[in-house]
Parts: sequence; structure tokens; C-alpha cells
Amino acid sequence: MNREALQGSQHGSLDGSNKDTCLTILGAGRLLDVDVEFIKRGGFKVRMIDADPSVRSVWKAKFPNLTKPQALTMDLTQCIEDWSTRLKDFIKKSSNEKENAEDSAAELVSFLYSLKPGQGHDLKIGDRSQIIFSQNILGQLGIYWRDRAYDLITKEIKPNSALVESSGELLPNIKKALAHTIKLLELQHLGLLINSKADTILILTDCLYHYYEKNNSNWQTDPALELGGYSELKKVFNDSCYELTTDKSWLWHIAPQGIEDKEHGSIHEVVALILKKREAH
Ligand SMILES: C[S@@+](CC[C@H](N)C(=O)[O-])C[C@H]1O[C@@H](n2cnc3c(N)ncnc32)[C@H](O)[C@@H]1O
Repeated sequence: MNREALQGSQHGSLDGSNKDTCLTILGAGRLLDVDVEFIKRGGFKVRMIDADPSVRSVWKAKFPNLTKPQALTMDLTQCIEDWSTRLKDFIKKSSNEKENAEDSAAELVSFLYSLKPGQGHDLKIGDRSQIIFSQNILGQLGIYWRDRAYDLITKEIKPNSALVESSGELLPNIKKALAHTIKLLELQHLGLLINSKADTILILTDCLYHYYEKNNSNWQTDPALELGGYSELKKVFNDSCYELTTDKSWLWHIAPQGIEDKEHGSIHEVVALILKKREAH
């Protein structure tokens, strides 16, 4: 991790704020990529949000004065549970009714396209000044949902389903429809940030995944986000009440070849966007 660049973007977003500012950290996790000491020195009131209940003890250890309303365990999308239940019901029903695999796949695809994420969790906090860190959560939002959907489709409900290729991958049109639902979750997250009316927003996210092999100059590069790359991400804010004031990117050599995988190494391209609320809004 490029700690200097990461901390630089956090310090830059907190510039000019004071003890009355509420710092909300979305995807706070174990606070590994958060400059805890800097935040403590600034005396900001913090609010942590993460779906994983196991990280609460870490928050408490690092911020002993954190009260319950400042430590929120929740799914920010507020739809993954509902989507999972609906998918479960849908597959149960359709596996009883359909013998033909092609029809089942087509129905599943249209079911997935019918899913809409709704508003998600409201991040507004009244008149108080607020700064939000969206802390490496954007690219993670779809992972939990995709894994759950994959399990429901392939294992729990329809074992050896014809919805899956022999490699274990979902059929391409099902994968595409699932990717569409993930894009909706990403856009919902950016909508949550825009609707928060926070003074400053820092978005830290993986943007590209690069894979390399030693002695081979051809890298494979995949997008980390379903909504597109860096320019698509910035475009979402063009017509909003936020102005992009700083953007930086850096490479994070997350898994050098030969450690987790003998065949290839991976590098994440990370971006940090600092957005300020426009005066008129
Ligand atoms: C890559 S980790 C971020 C690491 C963290 N910032 C740290 O410093 O340790 C992404 C975090 O987002 C959280 N997350 C993923 N989906 C979420 C959701 N729908 N709602 C709330 N938190 C979510 C995960 O539980 C995880 O802690």
C-alpha cells in the first residue's frame, strides 16, 4: 500500500476542518488504511460504518470513546438481504416450473435485470459539518452480493444446474446480468455520497487490476468497477453539487508473483478523489 499517498489524501480532505466536524468512514473495516493517529490528534468526532460486525472491537480499541450511534454495523446498500431472499424464492419457484435450461437462464437474466437497489442508507446528519471517507468500499460492494448470488444459483438451490458452465462459471448472459446489478450498487453508493450533502467527500477505490508474469511485457488489465474506469467515475459527479478538487492515483503491488500465486502477480491501481460541495448548494 502507498501509505504516503493514502494518508496525503486523507489529510487533504480534512484540511480546514475542526473538532465540530463529523468524520464518517464508510467501509471502515479494521481501520488498516486509515490514519488513526492523525484523526485522533485532530479531535474530530468520528462515525464508523461497516457491514462486518467483527470489526467493532477494533474500532473500540482504537477509539475508546466511540458511542453506539457512532459505530454502525449495517449494509449500506440496504438491499442485499432483500435481493438474496427474492433470488432464492425466484429460483425455487422457477426450478419447480421449468424443465428447459434455456428458459430458466432467460428467466433468471430478466429477474436479475428487474432488481433495483433503492435509496440505500441516508448519510445526512442535519446542519453539522461532515466529511465522508468512502474507504475502499466501492469496489467491494458487489463482491458480497455476487458471491451470495453465485452460491444461491449454483449450490444451495440448484445443484449441478444448467445455469453453470463446465468450468463452474455462470453462463455469460447470467454473468452479464449480475454485473449489471453490481453496477447499480456502485451507482447507488455514489448517489448516497452526493445526497449526503457532506462538505467534503474522499473516495478511495481500486480502479483497475493489473496482472503480470515475470519476463513478459504484456500485462492483463481488468476494470475493478462495473460502472467503468476513472473517467466514468468522475463523470457521475459532473452534474452534481460536488466539484472534484483533487485526484490522484497510484499502484499498489498487492500480490507479488510467487507469493500467493506462482503464475502471476497482481497490482491494483488505486484512485483518490476529493470532492467539495459547491457553494451554491
Ligand atoms: C477493502 S475493505 C476496506 C478496508 C478498511 N477500510 C480498512 O482500513 O481496514 C472493504 C470494507 O467494506 C465493507 N463493506 C463491504 N460491503 C459493504 C456494505 N454493503 N455495507 C457496509 N460495509 C460494506 C467490508 O466489510 C470491508 O470492511
